[in-house]
Amino acid sequence: MTAPDIDRLLGEMTLAEKIGQMTQVEKYSISPDEVAGHGIGSVLSGGGGNPTPNTPETWRDMVGSFEEGALRSRLGIPLLYGVDAVHGHNNVYGATIFPHNIGLGATRDADLIRRVARVTAEELIATGVRWDFAPPVSVPQDIRWGRTLEAYSEDTELVTELGVAFLRGLQDVDGTGLANPAAVLGSVKHYVADGGTEWWSAGPDTDQGETTGCNGNFEDAISEERRRTLEQHQNLFGEMYEHGIWGQRIDQGVAKITEEELRAVHLPPYIAAIANGARNIMVSLSSWRDTKMHAHRYLLTDVLKGELGFDGFLVSDWLAIDYLDDDYYTAVTIGINAGVDMVMVPHDWRAFMDSLTRAVEAGDVPMERIDDAVRRILRVKAEMGLFEGVRADSGSVAGFGSTEHRAVAREAVAKSLVLLENNGALPLSKDAGLVYVAGRPAADIGLQCGGWTIEWRGIPGGDIPGTDLLGAVNEAVAEGTEVVFDAAGHFDDRIADVGLVVVAEPPYAEMTGDRADLTLPPEDIELIQRMRSQCRTLIGILYTGRPLLITSQAEAFDALVAAWLPGSEGAGITDALFGDVLFTGKLPFAWPRNDRQIPLAALEADSNSPLWPRGYGLEV
Ligand code: GLC
Repeated sequence: MTAPDIDRLLGEMTLAEKIGQMTQVEKYSISPDEVAGHGIGSVLSGGGGNPTPNTPETWRDMVGSFEEGALRSRLGIPLLYGVDAVHGHNNVYGATIFPHNIGLGATRDADLIRRVARVTAEELIATGVRWDFAPPVSVPQDIRWGRTLEAYSEDTELVTELGVAFLRGLQDVDGTGLANPAAVLGSVKHYVADGGTEWWSAGPDTDQGETTGCNGNFEDAISEERRRTLEQHQNLFGEMYEHGIWGQRIDQGVAKITEEELRAVHLPPYIAAIANGARNIMVSLSSWRDTKMHAHRYLLTDVLKGELGFDGFLVSDWLAIDYLDDDYYTAVTIGINAGVDMVMVPHDWRAFMDSLTRAVEAGDVPMERIDDAVRRILRVKAEMGLFEGVRADSGSVAGFGSTEHRAVAREAVAKSLVLLENNGALPLSKDAGLVYVAGRPAADIGLQCGGWTIEWRGIPGGDIPGTDLLGAVNEAVAEGTEVVFDAAGHFDDRIADVGLVVVAEPPYAEMTGDRADLTLPPEDIELIQRMRSQCRTLIGILYTGRPLLITSQAEAFDALVAAWLPGSEGAGITDALFGDVLFTGKLPFAWPRNDRQIPLAALEADSNSPLWPRGYGLEV
């Protein structure tokens, strides 16, 4: 479909149909018939937005039903269905689950990240999905942020290199571009400086006002669904505060940085992504100085679309438009005029369409702005071949979660491991005699995967196809080696030749991972001490979305491995532990010695060195 064709189609569209294309609705809030009746441009699954039962086949049916709905609309403009496949197609049971991006950052291997993205794309295509809300190209400057795990590094250059590699892996199958039915549209996010926000600049009880809804005034004409979501959100905050150390403090906060720092640290990944085929960018829920990103006309329109020449389309983030003003009509007007092209509503789509229609009719949003937004959306849909009927290749479910795909994930796990300490203990012999394995995470694949797995905040105690560490150890050791597991580290009175102790962060996503105190909980410290007294050689393994404050525990180990959040293929860890592959991972974030070295600016200003610097990692 050429540009004149797009202009011709635009000329045929009613205002309602144009606004329909600008509307993205989450799957529980709309039916395929409503998609047909209102010409809706996009539907999404948020974290946990899965069909029941949750299988590749039911996903194909669900996505296909919405796509068919769009084709039944008056003009039959094809729909784009989007999901968060941020470490594999992580919503779907049976998918290959890769290490979270902080682990991929430790590999520093752009070709591997491209292959990870390609496997992810193949599993997305198998479920009919051709839009992935990834790669995140955040450059976190404060590891207390609950989205550090989704970032490759605190280093702009590494984020840029690996973010582009992932984008190319999704979109560029063999140089044929997005029109290839195996190509998946990436969404480079979250624009911009989402990783540059300041601690304590966000949260329901700060001067940032209500972040659980546009104004907390439930008397608004909002859907019951949205009411439930907002109340769940507030309950979530309540639950987190009980623990005292968790609670939204920095996610969706304010980046109080100069434009020079914004352009030097946080903008380069977007410049490179645009030069490498980015056609969609998701706007950040955070603010720069006193303006929310979704209201930032200078950064969205003047810089991104003007100065940098981005001619794809911008999608808002979840409920982000609501937070722009207490009055929803005003909020919609601000966001669209700032440069947002498609709105992830995601629930009350009627209210959105009605508000924007009234704003255009009242002249508060110019029709030129609407036409620009719709032209951008149609242009990308045309580039994806959607108007020519190019849809996800229907025969590809067979490769879903395949041995070949899991081999790529296993390789990524092994290359992601960072060996922090080793007094000669590693590599282990497979004839290790008596091996004690302790720590619930060693036998909990949900903890091994972390957040954004099946459910938004992950599935602790849940089960998905893959290999947990205990299973991998049993698989790896030689016949005569005895492996005994106890989550709490209580064994008989024998002293083991080798002890493996795994401690993990509880799974979280987004603001639920904002964490004030990065020390280990008392029960983990006690477990380490208990294991120390029962093993000749003690190996520590950390499942974590960020560096933790473990300076006091470090000397207890004979070897210590940062395994990040490895995903479904735990055997990648034993491949390195038992010497089948080398430890090659390097820290993508500096590891602070104490909380005075958090955030990164404090660490860099400190005359003391970090516990381990960025780029550190032993090789054996
Ligand atoms: C979330 C996240 C964003 C994600 C979107 C859809 O709030 O900020 O990264 O893509 O909503 O799930």
